[in-house]
Amino acid sequence: METLLTQLDNGILTITINRPDKLNALNNTVFEELNALVNDIYSNPEIHGVIITGAGPKAFVAGADISEFMSLSNEEGSSLAKRGQDVFMRIENCRKPVIAAVNGFALGGGCELAMSCHIRIAATNAKFGQPEVNLGIIPGYGGTQRLAQLIGKGKAMELMMSAEMISAEQALQLGLVNHVTEPDHLMEKTTSLMNTILSKGPGAVGKVIAAVNAGYDNTVNGYDEEVRLFGECFNTDEMKERVTAFLEKRKAAFRK
Ligand code: COA
Repeated sequence: METLLTQLDNGILTITINRPDKLNALNNTVFEELNALVNDIYSNPEIHGVIITGAGPKAFVAGADISEFMSLSNEEGSSLAKRGQDVFMRIENCRKPVIAAVNGFALGGGCELAMSCHIRIAATNAKFGQPEVNLGIIPGYGGTQRLAQLIGKGKAMELMMSAEMISAEQALQLGLVNHVTEPDHLMEKTTSLMNTILSKGPGAVGKVIAAVNAGYDNTVNGYDEEVRLFGECFNTDEMKERVTAFLEKRKAAFRK
């Protein structure tokens, strides 16, 4: 791939957005390649979890590629947003855990990409923001929705209307990120949390993702989905092995 680096290690696929000279801005090629990779993540049984990060020391992703904006019509603008939303929604709804390792600027589409992941871990040098109003546009890859979901409507309104950039510590206080760590420890911390998650029942972890997301989907009832998914856990090999292991006071077989 031209714009993405990938590495599969013990079931963890690390995706590195690789345009460091443009602070990893999301251009058309990144979206095409990310879309194809998401198909593989859904279907490839060797991929158990995904970490997304950015190349170079400065940026996770500094936004959509602004150089592709100038010539767009209203319809093309909407299509651009729809394409971004679709890819990010598939990341959000992936039944395999996806963690963003935010190693620098996460602005605009970069903040939106991080928010579509299930968990965010930030390096101390990370900076977050939705600066679109500086350019006379709005967040278009789900940012108006997910930022409000994660940090509440009032603070989300303020950040998106002021284009203010916030530090990793502020992001932690607001609940935008789960943890902050020294840059040198970012991948180690992210991998360690991923390994903890991957040691649990994979079907159950996927159902947690689906049930939580259902609460933010106005086409279904989150509580009803919880009931349905809870029921689906029963009588599975995974559940039988894990409950038996508990009762027999032994460790459950890995990823059964
Ligand atoms: N789209 C396209 N190119 C981008 C970009 C983006 N979102 N963000 C950074 N770049 C490019 C710059 O144009 C520059 O390219 P050049 O060297 O060919 O001129 C390169 O990345 C380095 O960026 P630069 O601005 O020189 O770095 P900096 O350290 O001075 O500033 C930022 C860093 C993140 C503050 C600044 O790049 C910025 O404001 N970027 C845009 C952020 C944004 O508005 N994102 C939302 C887009 S909808």
